[in-house]
Amino acid sequence: MKAALDLVIEGATVIDGTGTAGGRTDVGVRDETIAAIGDLSREAAGARLHASGKVLAPGFIDMHSHSDWRLWANRRAESKIRQGVTTEVVGNCGFSPAPVSTEYVNDLRGFALYLPGGMDFRWRSVGEYLRAFDAEGTALNVVQLVGHGTLRIAAMGFARRGPTPAELSRMQRLLAEAMEEGAWGLSTGLIYAPGSYAATEEIVALARAAARHRGFYASHIRGEGATLLDAVREAIRVGREAGMAVQISHVKAAGRPNWGKVAEALALVDEAVGEGLDVMGDVYPYTASSTTLRTLLPDWALEGGIEAMLARLGDAEARARVRRELEAPVIGQSLLDRVGWENVMIASCARRKDAEGRRLSEIAAARGIHPLDAAIELIVEEAGKGYMILFQLDEADVRRALAHPRIMIGSDGSALAPYGELSAGKPHPRSYGTFPRVLGEYVREQRVLGLAQAVHKMTALPARRLGLPDRGVVRVRAKADLVVFDPKRVADLATYEDPHRYPAGIEHVLVNGRFVIKDGEHTGSLPGRVLTPP
Ligand code: CU
Ligand code: ZN
Repeated sequence: MKAALDLVIEGATVIDGTGTAGGRTDVGVRDETIAAIGDLSREAAGARLHASGKVLAPGFIDMHSHSDWRLWANRRAESKIRQGVTTEVVGNCGFSPAPVSTEYVNDLRGFALYLPGGMDFRWRSVGEYLRAFDAEGTALNVVQLVGHGTLRIAAMGFARRGPTPAELSRMQRLLAEAMEEGAWGLSTGLIYAPGSYAATEEIVALARAAARHRGFYASHIRGEGATLLDAVREAIRVGREAGMAVQISHVKAAGRPNWGKVAEALALVDEAVGEGLDVMGDVYPYTASSTTLRTLLPDWALEGGIEAMLARLGDAEARARVRRELEAPVIGQSLLDRVGWENVMIASCARRKDAEGRRLSEIAAARGIHPLDAAIELIVEEAGKGYMILFQLDEADVRRALAHPRIMIGSDGSALAPYGELSAGKPHPRSYGTFPRVLGEYVREQRVLGLAQAVHKMTALPARRLGLPDRGVVRVRAKADLVVFDPKRVADLATYEDPHRYPAGIEHVLVNGRFVIKDGEHTGSLPGRVLTPP
């Protein structure tokens, strides 16, 4: 006799993640697994959910997230789970909370932008970190990458040079150990010190160490503006030489003079695929980017770490050098040749709350100083931890990236909440709106891509990149990570001015067979877990 189902979701249009159009059917869940698909009207079930007129899809996988820090402050993963995200890939852009070395733990602490309670670096290895994180439970599943910047800090602090052979083998050892203990790959952030201090050879040497464990290489590439195409080539080279799959993070062409170059970047991806390499990428559906305010500085300014940077910015001569370099039209050196000050908005500050939501041009005018000095003052006042939003991308480029078959969706945001400490500031709305925005704005309104295709980019395509079995698809025996949404209503509501707003139209979300969102409300359930590679 067949055991009863715990739950039957009845009559939804099931879009299964594979990219094929959906059909109306029932889906049955038992424990944490999809147990039956088809006409289940006669099956015994603990509960039934009527979902006709709605879409049932695999839970979304956020391919590019920075929630590893924020989840320590709030395990409910509010702004992500309410988008239908059931798995987040964290540790991106070269930065993860482990591994940690006793010698350089304070450098890591200074580098970290946000240190909630619990984020106390009592761990050393990635395995210890993941156990500490998992012990407290979480609303959604987490896939951890190892950040190259973190590895470098652990082995050699903020030294602005290549590693010695001993330092390199230390990084390789730490990375190999992390891969054995549950990490899924290596990430780099090659515009961020200390990652930016690395030559390509160093990254290839590390990628080789990770490739032995079947991981993939995710890169915030070395330039997203004038040097975009060289930077894409470098990422592909790492994949070719290390024998590793490549994920180009948040594909974009920054700055008006570079608009349109996403087409050429995607052509390089196609070319690499033609060569037999496994190259993919991700994108968020917005024409503004966001990063730390200190990224405005040339990378020598961060040599030695954040304390050294702050001391340097107090020195008139160093400041003058920063200013000279940022104003000189050096390719790839700064953001200033591609963005105007009026297009830089201060997002979040710990101290200068009055600056939040305002443009650097305005702040400078109010203080009666040059915008660059206003930026440097803010960097100093915020001890290097403030964020900015840059209105510097082209809508046509966003559409191009969204439509490309090898590009999936990644928010580049974190799990935030409109209450408590995660409600601070005016962060980029992508943390609240990415997935509903693709489904509402780019599928329903602009018709840039079809619904089944968009769902594929949020589910089976990232699952394929990860080598994640049993998720990203609605299939019998797959894990019951599911989202039910209203295709006519789904929309992002978060804006740059008012970012802490949940989206509309995401009605139910299940993680590992349990409701985390039911009728649009968070149940408080924490059924997610740290996923480890098969
Ligand atoms: Cu990122
Ligand atoms: Zn990045």
